[in-house]
Amino acid sequence: MSKWGSSRDNAEAMANSDVAILVLAAGKGTRLKSSLAKVLHRAGGRPIVEHVVRSCQPLGAKKIIAVTGHQAEQIDAILEPLDVETVLQQPQNGTGHAMLVAKRAIGNAKYIVVLPGDAPLVRTETLRAVINKHKKGNAAATILTAVLADPSGYGRILRKSGDSVAAIIEESQLTPDQSELNEINSSIYCFTAAKLWPALAQVKPNNKHREIYLTDAISILNAKGETVLAEIAPDSREALGCNTRADLARVDHTFREWKREELMSNGVTIQLPETVLIDPDVTAGEDTVIEPGVQLLGKTKIGEQCVIKTGSVLHNAVLEDEVVVEPHCVISDSRLDSHVTVGPFARVRPESHLKNGARVGNFVEVKKSVIAEGSKVPHLSYIGDAKIGTKSNIGAGTITCNYDGFAKHPTTIGNRVFIGSDSVLIAPVRIGDGAYVAAGSAITENVPSDALGIARGRQVTKPGWASKKRRELAAEQKPKKKTKKRR
Ligand code: UD1
Ligand code: CA
Repeated sequence: MSKWGSSRDNAEAMANSDVAILVLAAGKGTRLKSSLAKVLHRAGGRPIVEHVVRSCQPLGAKKIIAVTGHQAEQIDAILEPLDVETVLQQPQNGTGHAMLVAKRAIGNAKYIVVLPGDAPLVRTETLRAVINKHKKGNAAATILTAVLADPSGYGRILRKSGDSVAAIIEESQLTPDQSELNEINSSIYCFTAAKLWPALAQVKPNNKHREIYLTDAISILNAKGETVLAEIAPDSREALGCNTRADLARVDHTFREWKREELMSNGVTIQLPETVLIDPDVTAGEDTVIEPGVQLLGKTKIGEQCVIKTGSVLHNAVLEDEVVVEPHCVISDSRLDSHVTVGPFARVRPESHLKNGARVGNFVEVKKSVIAEGSKVPHLSYIGDAKIGTKSNIGAGTITCNYDGFAKHPTTIGNRVFIGSDSVLIAPVRIGDGAYVAAGSAITENVPSDALGIARGRQVTKPGWASKKRRELAAEQKPKKKTKKRR
């Protein structure tokens, strides 16, 4: 198996070894009004530039290069693990300038695929189509375009005839009769390097920002009699850029929709899908049901026939089969084996492991604890740094006091233990197999197997105390009665 998977990808890797990919990611993103560089903003559960690179990876190009500038170090940290080489563009004098800065890194690749770091919805299949059309058409440039109902904010495609393109006109430079053009430039291109470089050298910063626009290279190529082709994106959303917060929201919306559709096509039921948020790495098995308002985040993995009920948030949770998460639970970095039930209103904090058939009930918090097969913590408890054996029952309101103000200590509870309600187990402490703890105990010492631990004040009962008290109170109040007005 190749680094990217299937043998089909292997063939592709061979086919595109003459391609260098360049991702333009140096801009600040002024229109976002943010201290964070544009391509670091997240949509669909990832920084947008990461989506762009992931769409390129299966193409099997010779290399992937990113041009960075604003917050380059943070972008490097994301891209380095993805095998991307970075080139610094300082200052940022436009998309054409960004290409010139990367010229050395691009080296002698025959073709250059250019993508903006801010258009994250593009799919690998679409990039393949652009490259194939370019190679087959023997073109100097092939542009990925899209037809939009509202093309505002984008450079427009000026067609020559049929498949070929005369120029890209930036919005600020549209003439009145061009304002009706609704085919836009996605900023995704395939170039033949030997044709691009001389054309780019002729581009002048003829715009109000004094920038070198890569888009101007198109009309230059055309004037030289070179072929410029366009491939229309099958789904126009693939061309959406993220220039504003509203763009980010739209792009996020599309990613989330695609992810839900992926899970549904794998046999997962999602009720009111538009209310459910699922991160890209999440998986779920057949016949699992996701109720409205659920969030499945990070690397959450859900087995078959589970039910995740309304309002629950799972982050890096691993669930085996037939797990039930009742409404409004928060589960993080934990494992739930088959037939576990959690909630409603439960919180399972990191490093917890609920084993087969365990039950964590309402208003229970579990932290860094193991609850073994068939054990139950049904109501109002805090279980922290604890190990609970099999088939034990932890009564309502039980608290493991794991923290003494200085350090955390463990609580160990054996198999078939019964802890009476409202007990506090002051750690470090061990309760042996088959032991009982009486309700309301404050347990400070170990309870051996099969013993009863009882640690509470003895009850004193005073017969007749209440009626005597009532008589005393009545006698005290009698003199006052005279002065009071009748109502
Ligand atoms: C650009 C295109 C426009 C197209 C649109 C599609 C130009 C001049 N215009 O406009 O035709 O419709 O994309 O989304 O190319 N960048 C650098 N260095 C720079 C400038 C930009 O790396 O000096 C990067 C940015 O970080 C961004 C990308 O290039 O990721 C595109 O730049 P941006 O300013 O967003 O261009 P648009 O105005 O959207
Ligand atoms: Ca843009």
